[in-house]
Amino acid sequence: MGAHVFHRSTSARPPIAVRGEGSFLIDADGRRYLDACSGAAVSCLGHGHPRVAAAIAEQAARLEYVHTGFFTTAEGEELADLVADLSPGALDRVWFTSSGSEATEAALKLARQYHLEHGDSGRTQVIARRLSYHGNTLGALAVGGSEWRRAPYAPLLIDVSLVDPCFEYRFAEAEESAEDYGRRAANSLEAEILVLGAETVMAVIAETVVGATAGAVPPVAGYLRKIREICDRYGVLLILDEVMCGSGRTGTFLSCEQDGVVPDIVTLGKGLGGGYQPIGAVVCTDKVYEAVASGSGALKHGQTYNAHPVGCAAALAVQQIIREEGLLGRVVTAGERLQALLTSRFGNHPNVGDIRGRGLLLAIELVADRATKAPFDPALKLHERAKSEAFARGLLIYPGGGTADGRSGDHILLAPPYNIADHELETIVDLLGDTVDAVLP
Ligand SMILES: Cc1ncc(COP(=O)(O)O)c(C=O)c1O
Repeated sequence: MGAHVFHRSTSARPPIAVRGEGSFLIDADGRRYLDACSGAAVSCLGHGHPRVAAAIAEQAARLEYVHTGFFTTAEGEELADLVADLSPGALDRVWFTSSGSEATEAALKLARQYHLEHGDSGRTQVIARRLSYHGNTLGALAVGGSEWRRAPYAPLLIDVSLVDPCFEYRFAEAEESAEDYGRRAANSLEAEILVLGAETVMAVIAETVVGATAGAVPPVAGYLRKIREICDRYGVLLILDEVMCGSGRTGTFLSCEQDGVVPDIVTLGKGLGGGYQPIGAVVCTDKVYEAVASGSGALKHGQTYNAHPVGCAAALAVQQIIREEGLLGRVVTAGERLQALLTSRFGNHPNVGDIRGRGLLLAIELVADRATKAPFDPALKLHERAKSEAFARGLLIYPGGGTADGRSGDHILLAPPYNIADHELETIVDLLGDTVDAVLP
């Protein structure tokens, strides 16, 4: 066994995982790993939840698959009702996919089709942000701003305008208030719309809280509201990517609720099904849906596994458990607890420049010099070493590089399950402290 899988790295085969129990994963040698990142901010209920497993088994035994060109299912309908109910404002129609990248692709097509339905065929341009990630399929990669992910495939990608994200620690001037900075960051997006010609722009896409590329970066207060106003002013659709930060990860079903903003389209994935099944979603407002419904009558898109019944049954169980067990409240208290623990361990650490995030999507950023915020030499590959050091200690973390400018900078992302226990949060920070000390030059 073991010679045929094309693993992520061709130089090493990872250990074989055999079981999950709550916040822990267990490998074939019986080693236990505390999952401080839920894989990639996925396993929001932890591992091995018996009720979700039972819902999946029941669905698979009764009805494993139907094509959405022929049928709908009660599970898909009920999940869409719940998602629409939990989503703010007029976000009322739900299109299910099997991943976050597919949700991005569908959202982009939906935005394009919205304008076509209005006879506005000149709107073809998307404005996205640097240091962002919306998925790895070619369309999603094209609208992402992660330099190292894009570079090898750049000749295959559609042209997209990239503006700076709202990233206070890195981009605000020393004397600038958060409010002024947010306004300046939003104004740069408006300037880009005007450079392109507003009548050519179809959508702006942004992660509400930037996840893997910059490491848990929430927008400053007021920034997203300003972006919303700008999009409205020019007839541009606002797509918020909540694949990582949505589905409750920051303490509200959608993170943008905390910014007082309702996008035209929002994408979900990861925590929607909590890793029990691969499922993503595109949620759009009545206005967007009606453009299609009263126009051509169909989104010119579709995939074999849209609204997969077992995926929908799993996500329904996950979202019901989150409601019934009041886990959004737990995300808030556990997030505050984790942030406090991180602050007490790293608040005065000479190589931790920033501790940030929202709810249970948190990160620390490593710097060579706190005063100047100078990052470490990327050749040190600190983030990669942090991952292996933590792994050797039985801790799973989700570090990333290129944090500061796409090339240099290191952060460590934490995104534990919503139902993580307090004593497990303490263990995470203890092990993370040892990890950081072990990797620093
Ligand atoms: C913000 C964001 N959008 C989209 C995606 C793509 O999701 P998937 O890997 O399920 O295709 C990710 C995955 O990390 C993500 O973090």
